[in-house]
Amino acid sequence: MISRLSTPTKTTGDAIKEVTNLADCHETAARLAELIHKDGAGEWPPRSNYDYSAWPAALRPYMDIYHEMKDLLPAAKPSLVDDENRIRIDFFRARHAKLLEDRVELPAVTALLQAADAGRWDAFPRDVYNGFYCCIAWHRHAYRWGTIPSVRPAQLELSLPLPPSLITPWNHLQSHFGLTSDAGNIMSNIVLNFSPSSRYQFRINSGLPSQILSSEEEFSRVLRGVEGGAMPIYLGIIRAILAYARGDMESCLVHTKSISEGLRPVLAEYYDRVHDKTIARSAWLSHVQGFYAWGMGYQDEETGEWIKWDGLSGNQVMLFQAVDAFLGMEVYLGEQARMGNVPRLQREFCEAVGRASFRGQLGSEGVEGGIRGEMGEIVKRLRVFRSAHRSRAKEYLLVPAPERLPMTAGKSLLKAGMEESLEFLDAFMVGRLQQTV
Ligand code: HEM
Repeated sequence: MISRLSTPTKTTGDAIKEVTNLADCHETAARLAELIHKDGAGEWPPRSNYDYSAWPAALRPYMDIYHEMKDLLPAAKPSLVDDENRIRIDFFRARHAKLLEDRVELPAVTALLQAADAGRWDAFPRDVYNGFYCCIAWHRHAYRWGTIPSVRPAQLELSLPLPPSLITPWNHLQSHFGLTSDAGNIMSNIVLNFSPSSRYQFRINSGLPSQILSSEEEFSRVLRGVEGGAMPIYLGIIRAILAYARGDMESCLVHTKSISEGLRPVLAEYYDRVHDKTIARSAWLSHVQGFYAWGMGYQDEETGEWIKWDGLSGNQVMLFQAVDAFLGMEVYLGEQARMGNVPRLQREFCEAVGRASFRGQLGSEGVEGGIRGEMGEIVKRLRVFRSAHRSRAKEYLLVPAPERLPMTAGKSLLKAGMEESLEFLDAFMVGRLQQTV
């Protein structure tokens, strides 16, 4: 009887409608509906608007300056001489800062951001807000590194004063998204970096050979694609939780099954693309990953403590946090990294899922045993992902990058050599794999 029950595969649009309809039924649905409506500008993955004519005039200089600076950022082959790199970085930053100072009217930009803070989304539509967030994130990371591949002199900087036109908007945007970091995150730099017609917007390696360009873009497409296929899974999570709360175990079983089935195509985004043919190993470490790092900080005036910010990591992708929470697993990220890099509404959705996780209360017989079994299928899929990720990540990280010190975007500077650094990184991946039971 149970096998006859199945949910037809939902499209993202159908799933969004259903989540919205369920918003009054459970806090998980309420939190996700709020996330879609606000941060998603009505869609998921979130919608960004890069139509120049839709951008308020005060913001357009940021788009113009991106176009003027983008070809100056990358070097096909980085110099290995620190002094030469220093000159290159200083030149880029000076020119970047000058253009920003000459063209951006910060009071007008601030007025727009204040209008958004006050809920005046007519003046600053949410999809434009998202596009602007991504644009500022590009500018900040470009200024931080001054040249791509990231090179040793920039890596050794402990802190860096950024131009005011990159600080004031960032503080508003981060506060809006409930984030504390100076660095960008998977949302700001990657997921939002696509137009509604799926055009990749802000580039790191503009003007370089096509293999580098496509490796950069494909990497972003994997991360966008994972979030792009996740909505039916989120709906399955909410439906399973609701069914359990109502004591409807058969329906709970169906929805739990839909989660493990939904994971298959979503994880295929990773399996099918994170390999040398699509994302060239020779391009990724130097030309892609370095841009997404941050690795700088500041001294907290009150406590005297040194606060350091890391950049992007796949560990910020909401799908994994939501599914882990559904299984009742402990949170992967530490508090500082979560508050810094995972937007507040995403955190709140995952926290609500974690509170409603019922796996520990399931019996082992009958339908409840069946639900346990389906949860086991989800665990299996995650374990396969985590094992594959562990070996693929190593292949990408072990590529020589003589222009720089060992570094990952998400964990900043590492040990003196990449082999030793890998032990440190592997501990995170193995640790999570062991917790995935
Ligand atoms: C090929 C490039 C990649 C490399 C070299 C890499 C490397 C790493 C490393 C070293 C960690 C452990 C340290 C940390 O938490 O930051 C990690 C964690 C993680 N990465 Fe990646 N990553 C890559 C791409 C991706 C992609 C494309 C995704 C998602 C689609 C992803 C998802 C995750 C997740 C979810 C974690 C948290 C640990 C876990 O859940 O197992 N990574 N990655």
